[in-house]
Amino acid sequence: MKASFYQRQIAELIEKVKLGAGDEAEATSVLNANEMRDDERRQAEIKMFESLPQIVAHSSQLQGKGAYLVQELYGKSVLLTRGSDGKARAFLNYCQHRGTKLEQTESGCKSRFSCPYHAWTYDLQGGLVGVPRADLFPGLDKSTKSLRELRLQEAFGFLWLTMTSVEKDSEGYDINEYLGGLTDELSALDFASSSVYFDETRHLKSDWKLPIYAFLESYHIGTLHKNSIAEFFIENIAISEMIGPHLRSFVPRKNVMDLESADLDQVSLPEYITPTNILFPNACMIAHPSSYTIILMQPGDKVGECTWRHMLLVPEQPTTDAAKAHYDKTLAVLDQTTYEKEDMWASEQIQEGINAGAIDELLLAKHEQNIKHFSDLVSERIAE
Ligand code: FES
Ligand SMILES: [Fe+2]
Repeated sequence: MKASFYQRQIAELIEKVKLGAGDEAEATSVLNANEMRDDERRQAEIKMFESLPQIVAHSSQLQGKGAYLVQELYGKSVLLTRGSDGKARAFLNYCQHRGTKLEQTESGCKSRFSCPYHAWTYDLQGGLVGVPRADLFPGLDKSTKSLRELRLQEAFGFLWLTMTSVEKDSEGYDINEYLGGLTDELSALDFASSSVYFDETRHLKSDWKLPIYAFLESYHIGTLHKNSIAEFFIENIAISEMIGPHLRSFVPRKNVMDLESADLDQVSLPEYITPTNILFPNACMIAHPSSYTIILMQPGDKVGECTWRHMLLVPEQPTTDAAKAHYDKTLAVLDQTTYEKEDMWASEQIQEGINAGAIDELLLAKHEQNIKHFSDLVSERIAE
């Protein structure tokens, strides 16, 4: 995307870099660390997650009639399908005869899903279309035994799932409304045209919020990332803004001042500034010079645990060895080092300290108050 899209933020950040200080609050604040070892709190957060639209796949991962994906979310199996009408749908992946998990494989292409127990068969729209020995079920109305459909919306190149039944559609968020002030930016980023180069989900012994907190401050760049990305960034200077419940921040790279004399229509922002969008509650979208990271956090099955999923989107799949080597190097630096061995590692270290009862409050500096905003927002949503 052209840097000119962010003209106002670029001017503001350059001003802050000149002054030598980014966004800073008047005072420090603290977070209650013990919430992160409280199972009731974890369950309340899962309820919040289930009520909000979340990215579950890039549209290209469910491409073509009959494409399907199975995902485990909060102990439930979800079946995503692309129907013969081209529409993406989501269902609880359980047979309506006696509840057996229906599709057992992770992905593929099918026109029918047949239950492994008694072979009741469903179509891509979730309708029950086959019952062996139907004569043994007098009065069975197949139309009342469709798979339970969940609310799935396709927008901005992604599939957004809300874990509520479509019958309760009126209670769910419209994705455009939910993203509000971010929709222009998400349209301009044109994720629908990009490709998924990498997509992996990993388990982490940390509360799901701790890695998000790491993406909300630049105080740690010089120490935690000293062997990876620190050389590219100016630490401790960042600007941010709330866009509804979502948050956008800009961290300057060391060459940021070159933007002062650059034609903003001709340059790409991530060469000079790293923009991060946190789409509430769990998507961290980070732009790199030639690729885009989407990190999706999910609360785990146990307190103090979570999963993190990293999708690396690229403008197009590499067709040469050199282009592939470039993206593999990006993954080595970002995925395996910066995120996994540094940010995620640090989150596990913090969780260990919390579990040990070594710390009751997490202290946030004047320039780390985004973390407080985020944490307060989670608490507010849970209380609703
Ligand atoms: S439980 Fe699925 S066909 Fe019987
Ligand atoms: Fe980090």
